[in-house]
Amino acid sequence: MTERQPFIAGNWKMNLDHLEAIQLVQQVTYHLEPEDYRASEIAVIPPFTALRSIQTLIEGDRLPITLGAQDCHWEDSGAYTGAISVPMLAKLKVSYVLCGHSERRTLFGDDDETVRAKLDAVLRGGLTPILCVGETLEQREVGAAETVVAGQLRAGLNGLTLGEAASVVVAYEPVWAIGTGRTASPQDADAMCAFARKTVAEIAGDATAEGMRIQYGGSVKPGNVVDLMSREDIDGALVGGASLDADDFAIICRHHRL
Ligand code: PGA
Repeated sequence: MTERQPFIAGNWKMNLDHLEAIQLVQQVTYHLEPEDYRASEIAVIPPFTALRSIQTLIEGDRLPITLGAQDCHWEDSGAYTGAISVPMLAKLKVSYVLCGHSERRTLFGDDDETVRAKLDAVLRGGLTPILCVGETLEQREVGAAETVVAGQLRAGLNGLTLGEAASVVVAYEPVWAIGTGRTASPQDADAMCAFARKTVAEIAGDATAEGMRIQYGGSVKPGNVVDLMSREDIDGALVGGASLDADDFAIICRHHRL
Protein backbone atom coordinates (compact mmCIF):
# COMPACT_ATOMS: atom_id res chain seq x y z
CA MET A 1 0.00 0.00 0.00
CA THR A 2 1.27 3.46 -0.86
CA GLU A 3 2.21 5.68 2.07
CA ARG A 4 0.43 8.98 1.73
CA GLN A 5 1.74 11.74 3.96
CA PRO A 6 -1.03 13.27 6.09
CA PHE A 7 -1.84 16.79 4.97
CA ILE A 8 -3.42 19.31 7.35
CA ALA A 9 -4.44 22.66 5.85
CA GLY A 10 -6.05 25.62 7.58
CA ASN A 11 -8.45 27.58 5.37
CA TRP A 12 -8.93 30.93 7.09
CA LYS A 13 -11.58 32.14 4.64
CA MET A 14 -12.27 35.92 4.91
CA ASN A 15 -10.71 36.28 8.35
CA LEU A 16 -7.61 37.96 9.81
CA ASP A 17 -5.72 41.00 8.56
CA HIS A 18 -2.04 40.52 7.81
CA LEU A 19 -0.94 41.42 11.35
CA GLU A 20 -3.37 38.99 12.96
CA ALA A 21 -2.26 36.41 10.42
CA ILE A 22 1.38 36.70 11.47
CA GLN A 23 0.39 36.36 15.10
CA LEU A 24 -1.65 33.24 14.46
CA VAL A 25 1.13 31.47 12.56
CA GLN A 26 3.64 32.40 15.26
CA GLN A 27 1.34 31.02 17.96
CA VAL A 28 0.61 27.79 16.10
CA THR A 29 4.22 27.04 15.22
CA TYR A 30 5.32 27.77 18.79
CA HIS A 31 3.37 24.65 19.79
CA LEU A 32 4.79 22.40 17.06
CA GLU A 33 7.90 20.21 17.13
CA PRO A 34 10.01 18.88 14.25
CA GLU A 35 8.27 15.49 14.63
CA ASP A 36 4.92 17.16 13.87
CA TYR A 37 6.21 18.54 10.59
CA ARG A 38 7.65 15.13 9.76
CA ALA A 39 4.38 13.41 10.56
CA SER A 40 2.18 15.74 8.49
CA GLU A 41 2.50 18.42 5.90
CA ILE A 42 1.03 21.55 7.42
CA ALA A 43 -0.31 24.40 5.30
CA VAL A 44 -2.08 27.67 5.94
CA ILE A 45 -4.44 29.23 3.43
CA PRO A 46 -4.81 32.92 4.34
CA PRO A 47 -6.71 35.63 2.47
CA PHE A 48 -4.73 37.20 -0.38
CA THR A 49 -3.84 40.27 1.68
CA ALA A 50 -1.88 38.18 4.19
CA LEU A 51 0.03 35.99 1.74
CA ARG A 52 3.07 38.25 1.45
CA SER A 53 3.41 38.65 5.23
CA ILE A 54 3.13 34.92 5.83
CA GLN A 55 5.55 34.14 3.02
CA THR A 56 8.09 36.49 4.63
CA LEU A 57 7.52 34.90 8.04
CA ILE A 58 7.94 31.37 6.65
CA GLU A 59 11.17 32.33 4.91
CA GLY A 60 12.55 34.47 7.73
CA ASP A 61 11.90 31.93 10.47
CA ARG A 62 12.46 28.92 8.20
CA LEU A 63 9.10 27.48 9.17
CA PRO A 64 8.45 24.06 7.61
CA ILE A 65 4.91 24.93 6.58
CA THR A 66 3.47 25.50 3.15
CA LEU A 67 1.27 28.27 1.83
CA GLY A 68 -2.00 28.08 -0.04
CA ALA A 69 -4.42 30.54 -1.62
CA GLN A 70 -8.20 30.34 -1.44
CA ASP A 71 -8.97 31.05 -5.08
CA CYS A 72 -7.47 32.34 -8.32
CA HIS A 73 -8.50 33.57 -11.75
CA TRP A 74 -8.32 31.21 -14.73
CA GLU A 75 -6.35 33.66 -16.88
CA ASP A 76 -2.72 34.54 -16.19
CA SER A 77 -3.29 38.29 -16.62
CA GLY A 78 -5.68 40.76 -18.21
CA ALA A 79 -8.61 43.09 -17.64
CA TYR A 80 -10.22 41.26 -14.71
CA THR A 81 -10.62 43.91 -12.05
CA GLY A 82 -10.31 42.52 -8.57
CA ALA A 83 -8.95 39.14 -9.60
CA ILE A 84 -5.67 37.45 -8.66
CA SER A 85 -3.77 35.23 -11.08
CA VAL A 86 -1.74 32.09 -10.52
CA PRO A 87 1.57 33.67 -11.64
CA MET A 88 1.04 36.34 -8.95
CA LEU A 89 0.54 33.59 -6.38
CA ALA A 90 3.56 31.67 -7.64
CA LYS A 91 5.74 34.75 -7.04
CA LEU A 92 4.63 34.64 -3.40
CA LYS A 93 5.78 31.01 -3.12
CA VAL A 94 2.22 29.81 -2.83
CA SER A 95 2.15 26.02 -3.30
CA TYR A 96 -1.57 25.25 -3.23
CA VAL A 97 -4.75 26.84 -4.54
CA LEU A 98 -8.24 25.80 -3.48
CA CYS A 99 -10.41 25.10 -6.53
CA GLY A 100 -14.16 24.81 -6.14
CA HIS A 101 -14.54 25.35 -2.42
CA SER A 102 -18.26 25.03 -1.73
CA GLU A 103 -18.46 28.69 -0.68
CA ARG A 104 -17.07 29.68 -4.09
CA ARG A 105 -19.51 27.32 -5.78
CA THR A 106 -22.60 28.50 -3.87
CA LEU A 107 -21.89 32.17 -3.06
CA PHE A 108 -19.83 33.21 -6.09
CA GLY A 109 -21.31 31.03 -8.80
CA ASP A 110 -18.24 28.94 -9.59
CA ASP A 111 -19.65 26.06 -11.61
CA ASP A 112 -17.81 22.91 -12.68
CA GLU A 113 -16.55 24.62 -15.82
CA THR A 114 -15.13 27.60 -13.91
CA VAL A 115 -13.59 25.31 -11.34
CA ARG A 116 -11.93 23.32 -14.10
CA ALA A 117 -10.58 26.46 -15.79
CA LYS A 118 -9.07 27.55 -12.47
CA LEU A 119 -7.63 24.09 -11.84
CA ASP A 120 -6.04 24.13 -15.30
CA ALA A 121 -4.55 27.57 -14.55
CA VAL A 122 -3.10 26.29 -11.28
CA LEU A 123 -1.47 23.32 -13.02
CA ARG A 124 -0.21 25.54 -15.85
CA GLY A 125 1.48 27.73 -13.27
CA GLY A 126 3.17 24.76 -11.64
CA LEU A 127 1.16 24.95 -8.41
CA THR A 128 -0.98 22.25 -6.83
CA PRO A 129 -4.77 22.46 -6.93
CA ILE A 130 -6.83 21.31 -3.97
CA LEU A 131 -10.02 20.27 -5.73
CA CYS A 132 -12.93 20.58 -3.30
CA VAL A 133 -15.95 18.37 -3.84
CA GLY A 134 -18.99 17.56 -1.73
CA GLU A 135 -22.75 17.23 -1.68
CA THR A 136 -25.38 19.46 -0.07
CA LEU A 137 -27.79 18.15 2.56
CA GLU A 138 -30.64 17.95 0.03
CA GLN A 139 -28.46 15.96 -2.33
CA ARG A 140 -27.46 13.59 0.47
CA GLU A 141 -31.05 13.15 1.58
CA VAL A 142 -32.20 12.10 -1.87
CA GLY A 143 -29.31 9.64 -2.11
CA ALA A 144 -27.34 11.65 -4.66
CA ALA A 145 -24.13 12.20 -2.66
CA GLU A 146 -22.03 9.81 -4.72
CA THR A 147 -23.38 11.03 -8.06
CA VAL A 148 -22.61 14.64 -7.14
CA VAL A 149 -19.09 13.91 -5.92
CA ALA A 150 -18.31 11.71 -8.92
CA GLY A 151 -19.57 14.44 -11.26
CA GLN A 152 -17.43 17.11 -9.61
CA LEU A 153 -14.38 14.82 -9.75
CA ARG A 154 -14.93 14.02 -13.40
CA ALA A 155 -15.39 17.69 -14.27
CA GLY A 156 -12.17 18.50 -12.41
CA LEU A 157 -9.95 15.65 -13.57
CA ASN A 158 -11.15 14.24 -16.91
CA GLY A 159 -8.57 14.64 -19.63
CA LEU A 160 -5.66 15.62 -17.41
CA THR A 161 -2.40 13.81 -18.10
CA LEU A 162 -1.60 11.14 -15.53
CA GLY A 163 1.16 13.33 -14.15
CA GLU A 164 -1.21 16.26 -13.74
CA ALA A 165 -3.92 14.15 -12.13
CA ALA A 166 -1.41 12.61 -9.73
CA SER A 167 -0.40 16.03 -8.45
CA VAL A 168 -3.92 17.10 -7.50
CA VAL A 169 -5.12 17.01 -3.89
CA VAL A 170 -8.82 16.28 -3.39
CA ALA A 171 -10.80 17.62 -0.44
CA TYR A 172 -14.11 15.89 0.26
CA GLU A 173 -16.23 18.42 2.13
CA PRO A 174 -19.92 17.67 2.58
CA VAL A 175 -21.52 21.12 2.36
CA TRP A 176 -23.83 20.40 5.31
CA ALA A 177 -20.80 19.85 7.57
CA ILE A 178 -18.98 23.09 6.72
CA GLY A 179 -19.08 25.64 9.50
CA THR A 180 -22.10 23.96 11.07
CA GLY A 181 -20.45 21.96 13.83
CA ARG A 182 -22.00 18.90 12.17
CA THR A 183 -19.26 16.51 11.14
CA ALA A 184 -19.85 13.56 8.90
CA SER A 185 -19.31 10.51 11.08
CA PRO A 186 -15.77 9.22 10.60
CA GLN A 187 -17.23 6.09 8.96
CA ASP A 188 -19.29 8.13 6.48
CA ALA A 189 -16.43 10.52 5.80
CA ASP A 190 -14.10 7.59 5.16
CA ALA A 191 -16.64 5.85 2.95
CA MET A 192 -17.02 8.97 0.81
CA CYS A 193 -13.25 9.47 0.59
CA ALA A 194 -12.96 5.80 -0.46
CA PHE A 195 -15.65 6.41 -3.06
CA ALA A 196 -13.75 9.49 -4.29
CA ARG A 197 -10.60 7.37 -4.58
CA LYS A 198 -12.49 4.71 -6.54
CA THR A 199 -13.78 7.40 -8.90
CA VAL A 200 -10.27 8.81 -9.35
CA ALA A 201 -9.14 5.28 -10.24
CA GLU A 202 -11.78 5.14 -12.97
CA ILE A 203 -10.67 8.53 -14.32
CA ALA A 204 -6.90 8.31 -13.97
CA GLY A 205 -6.00 4.74 -13.03
CA ASP A 206 -5.29 2.80 -9.87
CA ALA A 207 -1.78 4.12 -9.27
CA THR A 208 -2.95 7.74 -9.40
CA ALA A 209 -5.84 6.99 -7.06
CA GLU A 210 -3.67 5.05 -4.63
CA GLY A 211 -1.15 7.89 -4.38
CA MET A 212 -3.66 10.74 -4.26
CA ARG A 213 -4.01 12.70 -1.05
CA ILE A 214 -7.68 12.99 -0.14
CA GLN A 215 -8.59 15.31 2.71
CA TYR A 216 -11.80 15.45 4.67
CA GLY A 217 -13.22 18.87 5.54
CA GLY A 218 -16.25 20.02 7.51
CA SER A 219 -16.12 20.91 11.20
CA VAL A 220 -12.81 19.16 11.88
CA LYS A 221 -11.96 19.90 15.53
CA PRO A 222 -9.45 18.73 18.14
CA GLY A 223 -12.11 16.32 19.43
CA ASN A 224 -12.69 14.43 16.17
CA VAL A 225 -9.39 14.75 14.30
CA VAL A 226 -7.81 11.58 15.68
CA ASP A 227 -10.74 9.39 14.71
CA LEU A 228 -10.96 10.97 11.26
CA MET A 229 -7.23 10.73 10.61
CA SER A 230 -7.10 7.08 11.68
CA ARG A 231 -9.34 6.12 8.76
CA GLU A 232 -7.92 4.29 5.78
CA ASP A 233 -8.96 6.68 3.02
CA ILE A 234 -8.73 10.01 4.87
CA ASP A 235 -5.26 11.44 4.31
CA GLY A 236 -5.71 14.85 5.81
CA ALA A 237 -8.00 17.60 6.93
CA LEU A 238 -9.09 20.88 5.41
CA VAL A 239 -9.88 22.89 8.51
CA GLY A 240 -11.93 26.09 8.52
CA GLY A 241 -13.17 27.47 11.84
CA ALA A 242 -10.75 25.56 14.06
CA SER A 243 -7.75 26.80 12.05
CA LEU A 244 -8.41 30.34 13.36
CA ASP A 245 -7.75 29.26 16.94
CA ALA A 246 -4.03 28.75 17.53
CA ASP A 247 -4.48 26.14 20.26
CA ASP A 248 -7.08 24.15 18.34
CA PHE A 249 -5.14 24.20 15.09
CA ALA A 250 -1.91 23.21 16.84
CA ILE A 251 -3.71 20.24 18.44
CA ILE A 252 -5.06 19.22 15.03
CA CYS A 253 -1.54 19.43 13.59
CA ARG A 254 -0.27 17.25 16.45
CA HIS A 255 -2.99 14.62 15.91
CA HIS A 256 -0.42 11.85 15.46
CA ARG A 257 0.70 12.11 19.06
CA LEU A 258 -2.70 12.46 20.73
P1 PGA B 1 -15.12 24.28 8.80
O1 PGA B 1 -14.75 24.65 7.29
O2 PGA B 1 -13.96 23.50 9.38
O3 PGA B 1 -15.34 25.58 9.49
O4 PGA B 1 -16.36 23.43 8.75
C1 PGA B 1 -14.10 23.73 6.45
C2 PGA B 1 -13.89 24.35 5.09
O5 PGA B 1 -14.75 25.08 4.61
O6 PGA B 1 -12.84 24.13 4.43
